Amino acid sequence: MNRIVYVNGDYLPEEKAKISIFDRGFLMADGVYEVTTILDGKLLDFEGHLNRLRRSLSELDMDDPPDMGNLLEIHHKLIKFNKVEQGGVYLQITRGPGDRDFIFPKNPKPSLIIFTQSKNILEAETALLGIKVISIDDMRWGRRDIKTVQLLYSSMAKMKAKAKGCDDAWMIENGYVTEGTSNNAYIVKNDTIITRELSNDILHGITRASVLRYAKEAQIKVVERQFTIDEAKTADEAFITSASTFVTSVVEIDGKIISKGKPGPIGKRLREIYIEESRKRSI
Ligand code: PDD
Repeated sequence: MNRIVYVNGDYLPEEKAKISIFDRGFLMADGVYEVTTILDGKLLDFEGHLNRLRRSLSELDMDDPPDMGNLLEIHHKLIKFNKVEQGGVYLQITRGPGDRDFIFPKNPKPSLIIFTQSKNILEAETALLGIKVISIDDMRWGRRDIKTVQLLYSSMAKMKAKAKGCDDAWMIENGYVTEGTSNNAYIVKNDTIITRELSNDILHGITRASVLRYAKEAQIKVVERQFTIDEAKTADEAFITSASTFVTSVVEIDGKIISKGKPGPIGKRLREIYIEESRKRSI
């Protein structure tokens, strides 16, 4: 890789970019992030990601980095420098460096890093074939609405899924599905989309907000409520949404085949609508 990345005000070759060993993102997972999709060299749902980023910062009493007002420009420059047509921009803000202490530093200087990743999202194999998921206990902390960098449990859950020949894990709390390791979870029953309502228990997906809006505009019924994994196993369809997967069908849950093992009609249609509408609005 030979990317140009952004770190605290500078555009640098990736091997030259450095962060302090005392950075609280590194020592305490004291940081937040966003991933914004790049399609045709342009950004999808940038405003939505920026608004969620502001909310994550404020929920953690974290200061804005000095370059907070230039984020769109930085995103555009990195896409141009690295000639990315399809993929994502990863942005991370941490509380910054401070000698190791559970108490926040008095005058923190937040760190900002941003880099691009090229990836084929439109023709991903998982989009054509659908994905297989396992279910697993949700053992993450209770503020999953804040997009923090403490992703170890999600990463372990994904590894467990991989070890079982699957692609992802749906997490269960008090008998109900919360979400996927890095995506929101949905089922379809009798042409109605069912997905968990927003709360501190799940990340308020930016793709989720857009997809539910487009579904309603297309006269597809949406119900926001909790569902169990057994309900999911007998659903007509299941799917996930995220910036890096758009709408991707789930065709197997804990070994039980869903929608004849192929992406179902509602998931496929929503994916098409999402791509078409996002392209119209990309910046
Ligand atoms: N993950 N739920 C969780 C736990 C997530 O980590 C994500 C995003 C989502 C979907 O949110 P959005 O639609 O805004 O991408 C839901 C990103 C893509 C990641 O960590 O790579």
